[in-house]
Amino acid sequence: MSALTNDLKKLTETAEKAFEENAAAGDKGAQTGFRQKLHLMPPVGWLNDPNGLCQKDGIFHAFFQYSPFDPEGGVKLWGHYISRDMIDWEYRGAMLYPDQPFDCSGVYSGCAFIEGGEMYLYYTGNVKLEDRDDYDYINTGREANTVLVTSPDGEHFSRKQLLMRNSDYPADLSLHVRDPKVWKQDDVYYMLQGARTKEDVGQGIIFRSQDKVNWAFHSRVETEKPFGYMWECPDYFEADGAKIFSASVQGLTGEEWKDRNVYQSGYFLLDGDILGEYSLSDYHLWDYGFDYYAPQSFETEDGRRIQIGWMGMPDCEEYTNLTIEAGWQHCFTFPREVFVRNGIVCQRPVRELEEKKQLIETAAGRLERNGDPVYEVDITEIRDNSFRAVLGEELILEYRDGRFEMRFSDRAKDSVSGGRGIRYKEMEKITDVKILGDVSSVEVFVNGGETVFSTRYYPGRYEIDVRSEGAEIALHSIGMSSEFPTE
Ligand code: FRU
Repeated sequence: MSALTNDLKKLTETAEKAFEENAAAGDKGAQTGFRQKLHLMPPVGWLNDPNGLCQKDGIFHAFFQYSPFDPEGGVKLWGHYISRDMIDWEYRGAMLYPDQPFDCSGVYSGCAFIEGGEMYLYYTGNVKLEDRDDYDYINTGREANTVLVTSPDGEHFSRKQLLMRNSDYPADLSLHVRDPKVWKQDDVYYMLQGARTKEDVGQGIIFRSQDKVNWAFHSRVETEKPFGYMWECPDYFEADGAKIFSASVQGLTGEEWKDRNVYQSGYFLLDGDILGEYSLSDYHLWDYGFDYYAPQSFETEDGRRIQIGWMGMPDCEEYTNLTIEAGWQHCFTFPREVFVRNGIVCQRPVRELEEKKQLIETAAGRLERNGDPVYEVDITEIRDNSFRAVLGEELILEYRDGRFEMRFSDRAKDSVSGGRGIRYKEMEKITDVKILGDVSSVEVFVNGGETVFSTRYYPGRYEIDVRSEGAEIALHSIGMSSEFPTE
């Protein structure tokens, strides 16, 4: 281990330990800072994208973009969590540090590809060259290097190998090329990366390899008309026979994107061959809430497609997170199964959650409860689109005027919303709603998961008030949380 790696490791461990000790000593910041129970968070500091998601020898691995030294972000490492059920996770430490000339400004996002008992971790080595006179960080002053490191267990690593530099990518691309995702098809390996062309058009770039090490440009994934200026964290997979191409898109403007997040994460259904002739459907958002970006997916050993997103939003000035003061920021979404029903892509919390749920109360038409922050409420057999729920006194979920709304009653930056206002999705009908609440987040699955809304929130009291005339309402506590008090 180099002296730099060694120091970065020590500094990270010191920051993590200080945070933990503050929490144990009852320090206001760490202890009351809205720490989540079910969702993965940074041990201290900042978290963004999920990276290297996989299941190997029964164990789930979730790496994450991690800046331990500043809750508002900084140089990126890869932190590492493992789990046997995607619910109880164990933090194993920061694993990949920016300690090479080709990744010195950050070990950026990437994937895990498993073969022959090894994890092949591909990521983007980011290099910022700020002292250049013509620095613009788009066409000059930046390197996006494709790097490979292998590991049997996510904890012991081979030497990092630099596989490709910007000069190895198509010449019409800007320096924004990143976030490799690798798969194997007909004995050939393919790598998808997100890119911005010199003309400011977002694209997916596909490379191919026979040996996982030597890569050559193969083809592109692009829309007929330009769609945003940059596609980050692309992903490609099949679910229930549908081909799904996912991208986190920056630069969408116009009426359709009004009242939406600054950047979007969504998917196109792909008809044809991603490696040859294909056409793309319209773009659908994975999540219509305030906090959702850069999702990645993987296949479990039992064949399910699981997706995890970053429950946050980059470059967002509109709203904030009230955990910053406590020394940390952001979390992942709860892992979701992606499946296709009647041609529609749906999401639901992973089924492992079912075993942790305990039925607390059922009601017809109305349920009010004050208590535990961690819960699931299922509202089924909704009639006449009658639905309104108020969570934590200020978060309102409501069907009205032909749309499902998620909105806060107060938009002040220090309120429950942290500055969030309204998000919505038009729909003709609602039949059921599932709400998964954690200490500082809510995820809402509407109509069997056809539409999802996620948001962070910061309640003073954990009240639930659901009204849905004629519907069945079931409230569950979740095993790891404390009991609901009986009123
Ligand atoms: C998406 C992203 C990726 C990049 C990483 C850096 O949120 O910008 O494109 O690899 O975050 O942290």
